[in-house]
Amino acid sequence: MQTVRVHTRMDAVQSPIVAVVGDLIRQVPGTISLGQGVVHYGPPESALNSARDALTDPETHCYQDGAGNRPLLEAIAHKLQRDNGIDLALGSRVMVTAGGNMAFVHAVAAITNPGDEVILPVPFYFNHEMAIQIAGCTAVLVKTDERYQLDLDAIQAAVTPRTRAIVTVSPNNPTGAVYPEAALRAVNRLCQERGIYHISDEVYEYFTYGTARHVSPGAFDGAHAHTISMFSLSKAYGFAGWRIGYMAYPEALADAIAKVQDTILVCAPVISQVAAVAAMDVGPAYCQRYLQPLAEIRDVVAAELRALEPLCTVPPVDGAFYCFVRVNADVDPMKMSERLIREHGVAVIPGPAFGMTEGCYFRVAYGALQKATVAEGIGRLVGGLRSLLA
Ligand SMILES: Cc1ncc(COP(=O)(O)O)c(C=O)c1O
Repeated sequence: MQTVRVHTRMDAVQSPIVAVVGDLIRQVPGTISLGQGVVHYGPPESALNSARDALTDPETHCYQDGAGNRPLLEAIAHKLQRDNGIDLALGSRVMVTAGGNMAFVHAVAAITNPGDEVILPVPFYFNHEMAIQIAGCTAVLVKTDERYQLDLDAIQAAVTPRTRAIVTVSPNNPTGAVYPEAALRAVNRLCQERGIYHISDEVYEYFTYGTARHVSPGAFDGAHAHTISMFSLSKAYGFAGWRIGYMAYPEALADAIAKVQDTILVCAPVISQVAAVAAMDVGPAYCQRYLQPLAEIRDVVAAELRALEPLCTVPPVDGAFYCFVRVNADVDPMKMSERLIREHGVAVIPGPAFGMTEGCYFRVAYGALQKATVAEGIGRLVGGLRSLLA
């Protein structure tokens, strides 16, 4: 019997790191996970009630319009104008997807040919690199500075005739950096000048602390024609399992995006869309009530980790719920992460998953922590690092 050839471009795509770390966690019961980027709360009650009511509506069980259900599209249009300053009437469309990750996959499929390049500042969000490789394209990695802010000269130098897009994620996963408006304007302008797209991942739009402010590049003058802005209900509304995200994208891409959506998803799960309308009706106030406790947890996490200096370096964390730590020692990040789980019962995500292949880095996610668990989790991490790096 002949074996079927299984070597494809997937071989070059990294394995889903959260699942890899999850396997290790399962082997060590009681491990506190600072791994997965999730929040500790679920959806608003009214969203759950709407979903319950929708169970008896025959429409819930049918295919629906690909772009999204009318009430949800209206809620999104209103929110984009109110919270992001994005006016769809200038020439953008909205597509509701099964989460922000799918919006990114759709966008890459719609704007690239195999062999094209997409610029990713590093550290990157792993699923972005994976999506680019799955599309047969090359992720061109561009360094950021020591505070994980964009290096505009490096980005400019990385643009080639094959570049199709520059990706920014602000607030950032995995670093927690929030990019200032001037930097986002510069990237957006560069994209306009070079005839390429600015893909702006804004799934952490509401998660900023202190004086940091979220800015949507899609609202800049003239940006609508080359900016693809992505959002998600996963974090803001505790909706990760309901799989609802959306993007605002230039009208010129409508046919291409519709083809990808119809092939991959047909339409986002109808019951989740119904729940999403109710959640968006509650609005950002829903997650804003969790921001103060989250900011306090961030302060504890940053202070505890900073106490490890000079063993580790912890840049400022202005947004999202991540902290990206550099270990100032010659250690293998994968082995270190494994030992933190096996010997100290605490899980983090190692830097290579985010494209940091030189040096030792790891991401701490604190969105799932309550104040009670944060002390224990960070205590284990700090104790573990002190003992492993001694
Ligand atoms: C930067 C970024 N984009 C997109 C996503 C995807 O979120 P979802 O597909 O659940 O909307 C995540 C999730 O962690 C993320 O961190």
